[in-house]
Amino acid sequence: MSATVIDGRAFAAKVREQVGEHVTRLKEAHGITPGLAVVLVGEDPASEVYVRSKGKMTLEVGMKSVEHKLSAQTGQQELLDLIDALNNDPEIHGILVQLPLPDHLDEDLVINSIAPAKDVDGFHVSNVGLLGTGQKSMVPCTPLGCLMMLRAHHGSLSGMNAVVIGRSNIVGKPMAQLLLGDSCTVTIAHSRTKDLPEVVRRADIVVAAVGRPEMVPGDWIKPGATVIDVGINRIERDGKKKLVGDADYDSCAAVAGAITPVPGGVGPMTIACLLANTVTACCRANG
Ligand code: GUN
Repeated sequence: MSATVIDGRAFAAKVREQVGEHVTRLKEAHGITPGLAVVLVGEDPASEVYVRSKGKMTLEVGMKSVEHKLSAQTGQQELLDLIDALNNDPEIHGILVQLPLPDHLDEDLVINSIAPAKDVDGFHVSNVGLLGTGQKSMVPCTPLGCLMMLRAHHGSLSGMNAVVIGRSNIVGKPMAQLLLGDSCTVTIAHSRTKDLPEVVRRADIVVAAVGRPEMVPGDWIKPGATVIDVGINRIERDGKKKLVGDADYDSCAAVAGAITPVPGGVGPMTIACLLANTVTACCRANG
């Protein structure tokens, strides 16, 4: 079998087009421009690339984009004061603090200082609780993008066995909640899981979100299963820099029914969902 390649780039372009149309309507009918503020502390090169890309796409869909780049030595109170100002700025509807933060900053405290209604990452403990209890919340962008691709490919996910590899707050845990919400039978596997290959072999849906290059080989995949690869790992092979996922693409694609490539799968959907969440936040703020 050769897997259907789920084209995240094309899917994300469609989502951004819909967001752009929504932004135009908000401007024309209500005179409102959704605004997204992104805060970056320090000079992590990968984070700088993401933040630039987020800013560019925010402007492309017609929204207001504000970037705050702070030095790696920024104190906790200074960061909290900035978030407080953004919380109270009526032109800002979404706030994203790029993670990871430098070690001297308390990530939980910082994230929980963002007004939940402006928390377009869905990381605030209120939004985590709302998602976990099936209430209206801000949904984390990467898992939301994965869910959208899964629904588009399968239609209903009801009754499917889903294995999420990775238990991070950013991807693994919210991904599991979303799949449960769509009536999957969900297993969260992690570094201590016993007999991981056997656990993964039972899955109709595998979401790989561990951050380890090409960790999942094709012989872990049930024939016909769908593989969603969240990993974005920079490696060097044969003297060339390369971007690879958490799944070993060639061997998984030979067995799976469908697979997301890296790059061009989950990555573009994450930013598209961030833009969609910002429009959602703007609409909720304006009734
Ligand atoms: N770092 C890696 N992924 C993310 C994300 O989705 N949001 C934020 N804020 N930081 C990240």
